Amino acid sequence: MNIAVIKETKIGENRVALSPTVVQQFIKAGYTCTVEAGAGYKSNFDDEAYKKAGANIESSKSEMLSKADIIVKVNALTDEEIGFSKSGSAAVSYIYAAFNPDLVKKLADKNISAISMDAIPRISRAQNMDAKSSQDNLAGYKSVILGANALGRIFPLLMTSAGTISPSRVLIFGAGVAGLQAVATAKRLGAIVEVTDVRPETKEQVESLGGKFIEVKTEEAVKVEGGYAKEVSDDYLAKQKDAVNKSLAIADLVITTALVMGRKAPILITEEQVKLMKLGSVIVDMAVEQGGNCELSELDKTVVKHGVTILGQSNLPSTLPQNASELYAKNIYNLLSHLSTKDGFKWEMEEEITKGTLITHQGKTVHPSLVQTA
Ligand code: NAI
Repeated sequence: MNIAVIKETKIGENRVALSPTVVQQFIKAGYTCTVEAGAGYKSNFDDEAYKKAGANIESSKSEMLSKADIIVKVNALTDEEIGFSKSGSAAVSYIYAAFNPDLVKKLADKNISAISMDAIPRISRAQNMDAKSSQDNLAGYKSVILGANALGRIFPLLMTSAGTISPSRVLIFGAGVAGLQAVATAKRLGAIVEVTDVRPETKEQVESLGGKFIEVKTEEAVKVEGGYAKEVSDDYLAKQKDAVNKSLAIADLVITTALVMGRKAPILITEEQVKLMKLGSVIVDMAVEQGGNCELSELDKTVVKHGVTILGQSNLPSTLPQNASELYAKNIYNLLSHLSTKDGFKWEMEEEITKGTLITHQGKTVHPSLVQTA
């Protein structure tokens, strides 16, 4: 099977789907790899590195797509790329199928088997394929670095001859993969860290990293499905607000990571709450692409409201393209090694990972979540 690594064209995207190391792994397993010239440059992988790994370098996108059995990307294929691809090929990328019905239709019409990296089931044996986790982990780290940089003070306690500087206080909303990495990173830099999450089991995880968990006094049991938290009631959100406001008022840096699968992100910091915050404090809203956890954050902008700097930068993994691409490439390798061999795909349609990730196949939309609503 011939794998094509296509250069990303989305503005602000610095990642590439395969690293030279993973290209080499595929070639060792009997696949062939063609890499579009310059595809890895922004991730610090030059064409020479891919050549050394055994790949062919091709400068014509149409030429390589017309011959590819498997197309690998970070972002979904563009209309032009779908046009160049051959019928019966497979494409692996983020798709966010529920939000992109037109794209799904175009992939199905072209008879491309579209495999979605954002739909990996949250089961133990799929952990090494889970791109959301690998990328969120890096994003959680970067959120702290960005926040620290925007803050007019340092994180650790510092005793000097001129006096003692007290440590910064960091408040984190959401203790999933990104939030827990943010806790670990902020602790390493010497901050005092507090965390709120709706899933009670995160208390222990937060405490094991040295953070303090803010308890919400409620009898309401939060539903979790497939590893994702479901939406909580307005009553819960009101109680959570009461519980966190004291911490919000003394926080120097606030990082919000709270997401609810398939929904707009919950608003956890209103304008009224921003007004409670200290002059010069900073919010990094990691949920900004899903609408934001802070009412005042703006996509891809830094705004100052009521003396608080609010960072709404999207696609944080792309700001660490080398590591993000390395991990994404490994996720793809693990997924494709599961779904295929050098001679072709297995297409075990009832198998959980195949069923969970396959969006279109044989000219049709096949993902259970989309078929039901069609
Ligand atoms: P996520 O990115 O969907 O959400 C981030 C966090 O926000 C979650 O912890 C969620 O509980 C929290 N949240 C939702 N609403 C909130 C609210 N109103 N206030 C505060 N927090 C709120 O979550 P992520 O990072 O994807 O992880 C969720 C769980 O799934 C974790 O336990 C993780 O370890 C697990 N997981 C399992 C995998 C596997 O087994 N293959 C792969 C990836 C994650």
